[in-house]
Amino acid sequence: MNRQFLLAARPHGMVKRSDFKLVKKPTSAIEDDSCLVKVQCMGLEPAMRGWMENRADYIAPLELGDVMRGFGAGEVIESKSTNFPVGTRVTGSFGWQEYFLHRSDDAPLQIIPDGVSLDEALGVFGLTGMTAWFGVNEIGKPKSGDVFVVSSAAGATGSIAGQLARAMGCRVVGITSTDEKCQWLTDSIGFNAAINYTHQDWPQRLKKACSGGIDVYFDNAGGDVLNVALDQISDGARIVLCGGISRYNSTAAQTGPENYFNLIFRRAKMEGFIVLDYASKFNSAISSMKPLIASGQLKHKATITDGFEALPDALISIFEGTNIGKQIVCISPPSA
Ligand SMILES: NC(=O)c1ccc[n+]([C@@H]2O[C@H](COP(=O)([O-])OP(=O)(O)OC[C@H]3O[C@@H](n4cnc5c(N)ncnc54)[C@H](OP(=O)(O)O)[C@@H]3O)[C@@H](O)[C@H]2O)c1
Repeated sequence: MNRQFLLAARPHGMVKRSDFKLVKKPTSAIEDDSCLVKVQCMGLEPAMRGWMENRADYIAPLELGDVMRGFGAGEVIESKSTNFPVGTRVTGSFGWQEYFLHRSDDAPLQIIPDGVSLDEALGVFGLTGMTAWFGVNEIGKPKSGDVFVVSSAAGATGSIAGQLARAMGCRVVGITSTDEKCQWLTDSIGFNAAINYTHQDWPQRLKKACSGGIDVYFDNAGGDVLNVALDQISDGARIVLCGGISRYNSTAAQTGPENYFNLIFRRAKMEGFIVLDYASKFNSAISSMKPLIASGQLKHKATITDGFEALPDALISIFEGTNIGKQIVCISPPSA
């Protein structure tokens, strides 16, 4: 049998367990040119909240009753496909289910190279790492000596973006929600400074950490954090609009950042991007990141929760900010 989580309700406010329905269905039989993947890990991303609501138009709509969308990693366990023989480790848009039947006309699976773990395939070498790479290199374009600030800095994307900028010679300052995360940023992954935005005087602390102003701001948070950063940009600053998690569960009307006008005074630029637009360059980005990992300049971490039934809570935990690095649910252990 195949356990699946279906989208049961469009979320209102914070995502709830009751937005999903757990069902069991017979596992699909394979057909010519198809293969059956046993899903071993599922990556959790804030964007899932928008997919549940059909807020985004860069990806196909998700209807009530559909298997919840999600990118996972797993192993081919039955196959009539010459491209994906039994034992091949793959990533793909498997959805929240234990088994995924891949047909030849589905979006292609990505083969996980030998030596790459499943959490690396979903994290640093997956859409997360790619988001950090292209947000930094194509939008932020930091130069050595720049002050680079990133929000949700201890999260999956933010932690990689900050380290990439550090490797380019920037002074890197992270913004996050706990002292424990701040300590991890400075003591374990080489950020120059980290600011806890739950302290009332955090804007002053940020200003002190960025004397001369912010040259590149990589925004994952939006809301008040973006507004404070906009107040502290330097001349010619670049603001990378990667995400705005502070608004994803909000039911209040959204207003723009009050300090946007500083973009004019500082002759600055604010630009959004969607990582999927860079898919043709993913392999070259991965090749550039491998030496940084090998040299220890780029470290990556995952927060791993066990068990298929943990999926809804793991998604909620991202919005509670309990993850450090990539939030992953391990659905079944990889075969030995
Ligand atoms: N543009 C693209 O193509 C693209 C692709 C992938 C992801 N993204 C965006 O990148 C951002 C990071 O994604 P990720 O997968 O790496 O997630 P993540 O940073 O690992 O996890 C989310 C983090 O957001 C922070 N957070 C949660 N609720 C918040 C709130 N109400 N206000 C402020 N901060 C809050 C928490 O960190 P703290 O403890 O630091 O607050 C939490 O750990 C998201 O905004 C996502 O939508 C964009």
